[in-house]
Amino acid sequence: MPLLAIETSCDDTCAAVLDGPSVLSSVVSSQGIHDSFGGVVPEVAARQHLGLVGPVVEDALARAGAELDQVEKVAVTAGPGLIGALLVGLSAAKAIAAPGRLPLVPTDHMHGHVAANFLEPDPIDPPFLCLLASGGHTLLAGVRERSGFEVLGQTVDDAAGEAIDKGARLLGLGYPGGPALEALAARGEPGAFEFPVAMSRDPGLDFSFSGLKTSLVYRCRDLGRDGVEAARADLAAGYQAAIVGQLVAKLSRALDRERWPAVALGGGVAANGPLRQAVAALCDDRGIRLKLVGLELCTDNAAMIGSAARYTAALEYPDYLGFNAFATGGSR
Ligand code: KG4
Ligand code: ZN
Repeated sequence: MPLLAIETSCDDTCAAVLDGPSVLSSVVSSQGIHDSFGGVVPEVAARQHLGLVGPVVEDALARAGAELDQVEKVAVTAGPGLIGALLVGLSAAKAIAAPGRLPLVPTDHMHGHVAANFLEPDPIDPPFLCLLASGGHTLLAGVRERSGFEVLGQTVDDAAGEAIDKGARLLGLGYPGGPALEALAARGEPGAFEFPVAMSRDPGLDFSFSGLKTSLVYRCRDLGRDGVEAARADLAAGYQAAIVGQLVAKLSRALDRERWPAVALGGGVAANGPLRQAVAALCDDRGIRLKLVGLELCTDNAAMIGSAARYTAALEYPDYLGFNAFATGGSR
C-alpha cells in the first residue's frame, strides 16, 4: 500500500515512499545554493524546488522499487513554512494525485516532526512529551494521541535553530549553521565565555533566544576581529551550551509539571549531539524513557510527513484541488 509523501516547506526538497510505518525510501535534496547567501532566500528556495521536485519524487519511487501507478495515496506538507516553497510541493502532489483520483493528505510540518517518532523501527506510543526545535519553531509538545499535539510552551521570539544559524554566521560558519557550530564547539571550552540562559527565572514553559544572539553580537564586537578569531571555538561552545541549557531547563520544568512516561525529540536541532546527551542524562535521572530518532529523521524529510499523514484525514478528489498551503499557524 505505497504512500508517496512530499515535503518542500523550506530549503530541502524531499520525497519518501512508505508502507504503513515502514519507510521504503526517503530522498532529501538539500539546496546548497543558500550557503552563498548566508541563509534561505524564499524565492530561490521555491525556484529550486520547482526544478528538483520531479527528479526527487522519481528517485524516491525508484529506490522503493515502486512505479507511480502503484501509489495509492499522496501526502504533502501544507504548512507552516515558506509559502512559495510549500506551493511547489502542494501543486506537485495535486498533479500526481488528481489524474488517478487518489486521495491527498495535507499534512502539518510540525506534526511531521512529532510523527517521525512513530516510524519503524521502534515506534513510540503516546503519551509522551516532545521537544521540537527547528529553524522555524521551538516548542514543547504534549503528545496524547498520534493525530496531533498540544503546545505546552513555545518561543516568544527566535527559534533555537534560527539562533544557531545566526550565531554560526557571526562566527564565520556557513548555512545551515547547526552541524558546523557543533563541530567547532567540540573543540572549545563551554565555560570560557558565559552566555545568558534566557527565561531561567521565568516560571512558564516558553523559550526566548533573541537576547542570546544579541549577547554574541556584543561579545564579538568587544573582542574585535582577531579576538573572535582566536576564541571562535570557545565562543561556539559557550553559545551552544546556553541554547542547549535553555532547551533542557524547559524540558525539565515541563516534566516537573506533569508526569510523562516518555520523552522524544524532533526537528533539526534534535540532531545536536550535546542536546541529545543532556536530554539522555535528564531522562536517565528521572527514570523516563527517551526516544531518539536517527539524525536523518530529525532534519526535514518526507518520511515524517508520510508518518503524520497516517493520522491525518485525507481529502478525496476533487475536494483537494482548491486546497491551499498556509505559511503560519497550523491545521490542528
Ligand atoms: O527541522 P529542520 O531541518 O528545518 C526546519 O523545519 O526549520 O531544522 C533546521 C535547523 C537549522 O537551524 C539547523 O542549523 C539546525 O536545524 N540543525 C542543527 C544541527 N543540525 C541541524 N542544530 C544544532 N546541531 C545540529 N547538529
Ligand atoms: Zn522542520
